[in-house]
Amino acid sequence: MSLLLLGGWPEAERDQWLDLLQAALPGESWLLQPPTAATQAAEVEAAIVANPAHGSLAGLPNLRLIQSVWAGVDKLLTDPTLPADVPLARMVDPAMNEAMVQTALWAVLSLQRGFFTLQAQQRERLWRPPAQPRAADWRVLVLGQGELGGRVARALAAQGYALSAWSRRPVSTERLPGVHGLHGEAVLPAALAQADTVINLLPLTAATAGFFNAGRLAQMKPGSGLVNLARGAQVNEADLLRALDAGHVSHAVLDVFAVEPLPAEHRFWSHPRVTVLPHCAAQTDARSAVAVVVANLLALRAGRPLQYPVDRQRGY
Ligand code: NAP
Ligand code: GLV
Repeated sequence: MSLLLLGGWPEAERDQWLDLLQAALPGESWLLQPPTAATQAAEVEAAIVANPAHGSLAGLPNLRLIQSVWAGVDKLLTDPTLPADVPLARMVDPAMNEAMVQTALWAVLSLQRGFFTLQAQQRERLWRPPAQPRAADWRVLVLGQGELGGRVARALAAQGYALSAWSRRPVSTERLPGVHGLHGEAVLPAALAQADTVINLLPLTAATAGFFNAGRLAQMKPGSGLVNLARGAQVNEADLLRALDAGHVSHAVLDVFAVEPLPAEHRFWSHPRVTVLPHCAAQTDARSAVAVVVANLLALRAGRPLQYPVDRQRGY
């Protein structure tokens, strides 16, 4: 049998994965292109993928696992030829978790202390110290209390911020000490109205596409900030631009966009209230993520449950 390693990634990144996987799983046979012959296709036992081209996982009769090296599997799930009955697992990588916490801390700190405004003032040679609200008086609402949202909420609470975190289902208070856990649509308008900073860490699904539309943005506290670290399609960009132009949203930190790379002519690039990041809030680090892939391959072969399985009905 063989293992298929496929992705829309630079060759150097693919080669790093291959080196690490070969070191961890000596003696395996690897395929780096979709099989071209039926005999080769029949050999593929598992596919380790980074958003490969649509159709590249079709026609593999003995495929038993699709392991994504991305945390979000929204793109993968839009492939209509993705084999429906093959288990799909996503990535939860300690290095990615750490990076996401750092990005969220930087964004919240910069918004709370006015550092984005100070950066703009420097360009104008303006000496104008900003107001200095305390962390305890700065409420952050994290949308999503999963692997990333949960960690971000805990880390911000540990820095003294007033923390609320929202999800579909209730989360035990023990899991997120110091965090006000919320769930369900009914509580969302009030939570948005109270937050100084809203951080989006929801997976992109049918339920969360276009989540930040004019209605939801209007529910946010006037002058609050939006930090989108999840997926661009969760924000209606025209609605957000209107909210920014009006000053209702005072600043947006955006790591993800409807179209990536963000087109050169997009207004976000030059908007004074927008900080653009090139989808780098938290990248998978193959050096730590390889352990997740190896653990799932071994679990598959031993008949044990997989780590981080995706529920295709829910979409995450
Ligand atoms: P996760 O562990 O699956 O957590 C998802 C959370 O979102 C859960 O708390 C879930 O609540 C909640 N949720 C899902 N749908 C919801 C809905 N309709 N209403 C309310 N809550 C909902 O995912 P994760 O590992 O934290 O990752 C989150 C997302 O971050 C990924 O899907 C990916 O898009 C993005 N991401 C971005 C980057 C980057 O660099 N920008 C890097 C990695 C990941 P329940 O458990 O109650 O269902
Ligand atoms: C990055 O956005 C990921 O989903 O891993």
